[in-house]
Amino acid sequence: MENNKKFFIETYGCQMNFSDSEIVASILEEAGYYSTKEIREADMILINTCSIRDHAEQRVRKRLEYMQSLKKKKPGIVIGMLGCMAERLKTQLLEEEKVLDLIAGPDSYRDLPQLLAEVESGSKAVNTSLSVEETYADVSPLRYDSNGISAFISIMRGCGNYCAYCVVPYVRGQERSRNANSILTEAESLFNKGFREITLLGQNVNSYSWNEGANKVDFAKLLGKIAQLNPLFRIRFATSHPKDLSDELLQTIAIYPNICRSIHLPVQSGSNHILRHMNRGYTREHYLERITSIRRILPDCAISTDIIAGFCSESEEDYRDTLMLMEEVGFDYAFMFRYSERPDTLAANRYKDDVLTGVKDSRLSEIINLQQKLSFQSNKRDVGKTFEVLIEGFSKRSDDFYFGRTSQNKVVVFPLTKNNPGDYIQVKIDRFTSATLIGEAI
Ligand code: SAH
Ligand code: SF4
Ligand code: F3S
Repeated sequence: MENNKKFFIETYGCQMNFSDSEIVASILEEAGYYSTKEIREADMILINTCSIRDHAEQRVRKRLEYMQSLKKKKPGIVIGMLGCMAERLKTQLLEEEKVLDLIAGPDSYRDLPQLLAEVESGSKAVNTSLSVEETYADVSPLRYDSNGISAFISIMRGCGNYCAYCVVPYVRGQERSRNANSILTEAESLFNKGFREITLLGQNVNSYSWNEGANKVDFAKLLGKIAQLNPLFRIRFATSHPKDLSDELLQTIAIYPNICRSIHLPVQSGSNHILRHMNRGYTREHYLERITSIRRILPDCAISTDIIAGFCSESEEDYRDTLMLMEEVGFDYAFMFRYSERPDTLAANRYKDDVLTGVKDSRLSEIINLQQKLSFQSNKRDVGKTFEVLIEGFSKRSDDFYFGRTSQNKVVVFPLTKNNPGDYIQVKIDRFTSATLIGEAI
């Protein structure tokens, strides 16, 4: 089917949403539509949304005001909302946001051509059913906004952990793993197309599990199989859950130099009382014991985390416990958030959002200040060391410099060499800024 209509996708939220947008693009091209990078050329605009914090939803609401102005100029344009916010608010959105023609939740993307046909015939279209088995395993993602070097592969969908603050289990549905063979085939085809780095995505990749007859593939096995495809193929993964990160997995990583030395291990809080309230399934002691294992088995591994400031009933002492844990671990990097109550989650139903906004803000800013200090120390430790860097392209600031990443996921900038993006090169670090290591190829 050919129809010459062009679609533009705008993506918010986590890496998984970016990965989903590539699946959406593939499904639409398959149905005869064309992808465009120019929003003004588009006959339809699809906004892939996030619900993780209230702020994420407010951003999208603001963006819809702009869509309204586009629609005034071009009345035939179709505006659709995809993703987690679409799933959370469902048909309610059609009443609140008149500009929307289409609503599709994360498990209904195969239905998009059908939904668009409904819109073309003059009605609004909605599909927000969640599935227990959809993994889009057979859809080959369209890498429409790619650097040709690194790519995401979703290996799981949904989440079954029900952390008290979190909306993800409600908007993404049950946890399910994708067919291991389809992951391997996709990885191999990416490598053959010149890609050199993949990031395997799931809300808790450590609980990946695929059974084919008697053959059981867990996450460690899957990683090992992908690592064996080619030593020049780098593998990253996110996110690891502290309750499920096993020594077996760390030992698998240790065997393969091409599995990156970088583990994202969200701690959320350093206080046992808060961790219990959050339903995280581990204690501060367990978390620190996992860190000790990482340091023992993978001595050069970077560790990053997520932290929430001001969760329900967080006392001054709980918050100090978080600061102390951060110091003790010395995280290389962290994503830090102010607690935002999400409707219908366990926390919204059971607890009072009782930390005052001003207190949340001051705790968050102190947490950010401490992390800046820790990141500075982490970068400082790298000065004088030599790292293998995968070249991704020209530095944003200057075409006289390349940029790439170390196995530890730090960005490195260095003067151009004869190499090309996609090549590996040894770079000796001689200085750094807050977000970048700077060095020279050797
Ligand atoms: N599956 C991952 C996290 C996914 S969401 C994990 O379990 O770690 C990414 C991060 O957003 C979380 O780690 C948490 O720090 C933050 N987050 C989630 N819900 C939030 C909320 N209601 N308010 C503030 N931050 C939140
Ligand atoms: Fe949310 Fe917890 Fe699942 Fe992460 S593990 S997505 S924080 S419920
Ligand atoms: Fe946001 Fe949905 Fe990801 S809520 S963080 S886009 S899974």
